[in-house]
Amino acid sequence: MAAEIIDGNSIAKQIRGELEEEIKKLKEENNTTPGLAVVLVGENPASQVYVRMKNKACHDIGVYSEQHSLSKDISEADLLKLIDKLNEDSKIHGILVQLPLPEHIDESKVLYRIKPEKDVDGFHPVNLGKMLIGEPGFLPCTPFGVQKLLIYSGVNLEGAHVVVVGRSNIVGKPVANMLLQKQKDANATVTVCHSRTKDLASITRQADVLIAAIGRPEMITADMVREGAVVIDVGVNRVDDPGRKRGYKLVGDVKFDEVSQKCRAITPVPGGVGPMTITMLLYNTVKSAKNSAA
Ligand code: GUN
Repeated sequence: MAAEIIDGNSIAKQIRGELEEEIKKLKEENNTTPGLAVVLVGENPASQVYVRMKNKACHDIGVYSEQHSLSKDISEADLLKLIDKLNEDSKIHGILVQLPLPEHIDESKVLYRIKPEKDVDGFHPVNLGKMLIGEPGFLPCTPFGVQKLLIYSGVNLEGAHVVVVGRSNIVGKPVANMLLQKQKDANATVTVCHSRTKDLASITRQADVLIAAIGRPEMITADMVREGAVVIDVGVNRVDDPGRKRGYKLVGDVKFDEVSQKCRAITPVPGGVGPMTITMLLYNTVKSAKNSAA
């Protein structure tokens, strides 16, 4: 039987609607407008697209946003100066430095300079540490989006076996930790697999919830998935498609056509996890503004 499609666009729209109401309330009751600063260094075309989408998403729901577009040759010291300035700017509640940065700049040094209270990307070690021990902080947007997708789709995580394939710092490791927490909307039994895992399929087949975050096109095939599992595909891979005007198409880490015949529910690519990442960035920015108004 064909699986239920977990519609990221629709869930993202619902959450953005809820945020819009909170923003109105913040304006009325606290005279506060959430503000996001987006820092873009250089002219990476994919980064330019993401930054444009982030600014538009802010505009659409009433978050103030400002873009700082810097030359690829900017020095690390000057970039750090800008971060310091934004850290002190009271109309800015969230700072996002679009990655990747040019090679002459130490990415960690820049990300660690952002005040944890304004780290709406959730990449600062203070926020990652809080996540690990289950304290409130900012959660990284993509894994947070995965958790929200599961919650809004009515998936009961309590005691479920979640298998995460991939151990990146921005998706695999955080999502595994978030779903492991002894908290509501988590409490799962989590297994993390990676490129050195032996007999991967024997583990993925045990998953009630399978999260694919490997970055390899269509690697998860139907034989790796248990009948009735929920499958979340975090992958966004460009593969050649001469039939299309732009010459490529986007596919996930999961072989959608065959896996969707076997599992209970699945996220499509595009239109699954993707729309949730920016939504959770907005969520974190609104949360930061609420924290500052409290
Ligand atoms: N580059 C690719 N994904 C991301 C993200 O989630 N945040 C930032 N800051 N840069 C990225």
